[in-house]
Amino acid sequence: MLASGERVAEFERKFADYCGTTHAVAVNSGTAALHAALLAADIGHGDEVIVPAFSFFATASAVLMCGATPVFADVNEQTFNINPQQIEERVTPKTRAVIGVHLFGQPFEIPAVQEICERHNLKLIEDAAQAHGALSNSGKAGSFGQFGCFSFYATKNMITGEGGMVVTNEKAYNERLRLIINHGQSEKYLHTRLGYNYRMTDIAAALGLVQLKKLEKFNERRRKNAGYYNTHLSVKGLVTPVVAAGVLPVYHQYVVRLTDEFPMSRAEFIDYLKAKGIGSAIHYPIPLHRQPVFGLENVPDPCPVSTHLAESVLSLPVHPLLDQKQLAYICDTINRVK
Ligand SMILES: Cc1ncc(COP(=O)(O)O)c(C=O)c1O
Repeated sequence: MLASGERVAEFERKFADYCGTTHAVAVNSGTAALHAALLAADIGHGDEVIVPAFSFFATASAVLMCGATPVFADVNEQTFNINPQQIEERVTPKTRAVIGVHLFGQPFEIPAVQEICERHNLKLIEDAAQAHGALSNSGKAGSFGQFGCFSFYATKNMITGEGGMVVTNEKAYNERLRLIINHGQSEKYLHTRLGYNYRMTDIAAALGLVQLKKLEKFNERRRKNAGYYNTHLSVKGLVTPVVAAGVLPVYHQYVVRLTDEFPMSRAEFIDYLKAKGIGSAIHYPIPLHRQPVFGLENVPDPCPVSTHLAESVLSLPVHPLLDQKQLAYICDTINRVK
């Protein structure tokens, strides 16, 4: 079986068990997962969906794909995650849902966001593309909202090359998702609604099954690497990631902030690291609300924290294959910055 078959079904069962949800629907990307979840929540033209301004593009483009409008909320400067107060301020009669992102593998403030969603009757969609296995008060990221959306893209904490998953606890959503990801086909060649080909292949699921077994070990290694940086990096003006109370992050990225006290500009620092053989990356250089496609580049900045973060963050290597010698070399090289 090359297309969706027994491997996909097994991967769905095991991933749902892992997340502690009753259902999981495998798809062919994290973007497809978000789009399918929004469609299953009946989001469409005229609806508004509140999303954080600091995230990967797909968090907001999936809303546009439904014909709805993404409304950008600013984030917390310390945790990089959506600021619940900002959600509250952006709710209008048109708001139908909130997408919370567990950015860089750290769960957002779930109880506060859940409370706002319940009070305003909004659907909560968790973008857990970077947070497989992250914990918030003992629940897994992705299991708190009506939908949890994951990506298995090549750089994620677990991978299938390209791939994704939607988890949910509601039977009706599970059924609707299965229609949406398979051409709206309720039986062979009978199409009862608009759907897409978002199916995962058995080839991808076979990779996912093996990766899922290794996920806890991968995440532990990422946490260990992050712990090493936290205790060994000591340069003025370099702020290591802040972990909120009650969460266990999985460090999809290890993201530092450079303040005015840092001896170099960010561009100079990137070049310095590169010359020493150390890769780094900016996640993300342009906040979502300033992406040209949304047409908000010229309005007064509604999300200044996100804009500031886009100018000052830098991701350092944190992947599970780093060894002790490499970590020591990276810290030593950074601590020599003058
Ligand atoms: C936060 C976030 N949301 C959504 C996605 C989209 O996932 P994919 O690349 O699998 O479509 C990604 C990853 O790329 C992501 O990091």
